[in-house]
Amino acid sequence: MDGPVAIILAAGHGKRMKSDKAKVLHEVCGRPMISYVVDAARAAGAKKIVVVVGFGADQVRAALGNEPDIVFATQEKQLGTGDAVKACRPQLEGYTGPAMILVGDEPLIRAEPLADLFNRQRTDGAACLLGTAIVPDPTGFGRILRDTAGRFMRIVEQRDCSPEEVRITEVNPSCYIFQLPGLWDALDKLGTTNAQGEYYLTDAPELLQQMGRKVVALPVLEANDILGVNTRQHLAQADALMQARILDQLMTNGVTVVAPLDTYVDGRAQIGADTIIYPFTVITGDVTVGKNCRLGPFTHLREGTVLEDDVQVGAFVELCRTTLGQGTIARHHAYLGDANVGAGSNVGAGVITANFDGKLKSKTTVGVNAFLGSGAILIAPVAVGDGAVVGAGAVVTKGQDVAAGTTVAGVPARPLSSKS
Ligand code: UD1
Ligand code: CA
Repeated sequence: MDGPVAIILAAGHGKRMKSDKAKVLHEVCGRPMISYVVDAARAAGAKKIVVVVGFGADQVRAALGNEPDIVFATQEKQLGTGDAVKACRPQLEGYTGPAMILVGDEPLIRAEPLADLFNRQRTDGAACLLGTAIVPDPTGFGRILRDTAGRFMRIVEQRDCSPEEVRITEVNPSCYIFQLPGLWDALDKLGTTNAQGEYYLTDAPELLQQMGRKVVALPVLEANDILGVNTRQHLAQADALMQARILDQLMTNGVTVVAPLDTYVDGRAQIGADTIIYPFTVITGDVTVGKNCRLGPFTHLREGTVLEDDVQVGAFVELCRTTLGQGTIARHHAYLGDANVGAGSNVGAGVITANFDGKLKSKTTVGVNAFLGSGAILIAPVAVGDGAVVGAGAVVTKGQDVAAGTTVAGVPARPLSSKS
């Protein structure tokens, strides 16, 4: 097997979330939090990723889909993080090399420090390398104990800390690289004499050191990288931090975000340079926006929406699975779902595609340079040809396609007779 590998622990329930759903599937900026950890491990260089599942195993497998580099290991009973790693042994049989261990409930972990850790491990050859962080508020984390010379001694869980140890601000973010097969030797030695009676992965570094192996702890992570989601409050904090990162990246790419605190963009959205996003714009799902577009205020773009360059979408316009061609304008109060509108068209105020008949969703097609008057309703499936005009208030009924270049009006819409 090609290394390095990554192991992501995701078998726990996350009781404090008070949810029927596995904790790692709760969404941060529109995506299950574990998918960010998978992305970071991949981008840091992991060639194979073993995800340990247990509570809600089927949901987690389904959410991560059929990716060739992901395999799953099942932890039958949640006996602790050390036990969870043991569950990966069959999947990693015969593999010798570095394995990075991460937890699925820290979605803000970034690829850069992880790649850095992989590099250090390669040059350093340590049996265990710990990425640590020095944080203003260490509550809830395991603490890193060092000797007077600053060398790593052990990790102590908060529940097992003495009053002095609890004040330590260097914490364990659960970001380790272990050399295999040495890790298995340490895991075989784990006991359960701790406050929770669990097999703690956090005991493995100390055990390796006692076996004469080299263990190094490096404070390469930042407080924001390691926000662990254990509660809904943490989930909201993670979302806010991730949203700030997403908008920051967009701005770096040349997008103007007029009011970042009043704008919400899904992590999967792609937006071209010189596009301006006005306040209260919400983009959810895998949306693609071209260059030099104008979005908002108060625009909602939903999954599968594609805006080509120079499109303008304004107040109270909602688009879902809809494509707008170059230069098309929908400035006020419209709903377009399952629609494909060609370039240079005008979607008037109040235009609606009736795409759902209560059972089925159907498509609406509008050609290039078409004009949809205010309040027009297009009952799908229906097509409006190139250069056609649909009068204000017209209702174009199902299947009554409007031919290119014609003008229709009324309820139901009929071609206007040409004046003699
Ligand atoms: C763990 C660490 C702690 C660290 C903290 C934040 C241990 C003993 N403690 O504590 O030092 O500061 O994470 O990174 O490791 N999981 C399983 N199977 C289990 C138990 C847990 O897969 O039997 C998974 C959970 O799904 C979760 C991760 O491991 O993704 C961490 O478990 P959690 O219970 O949140 O550990 P913490 O108490 O936060
Ligand atoms: Ca945790």
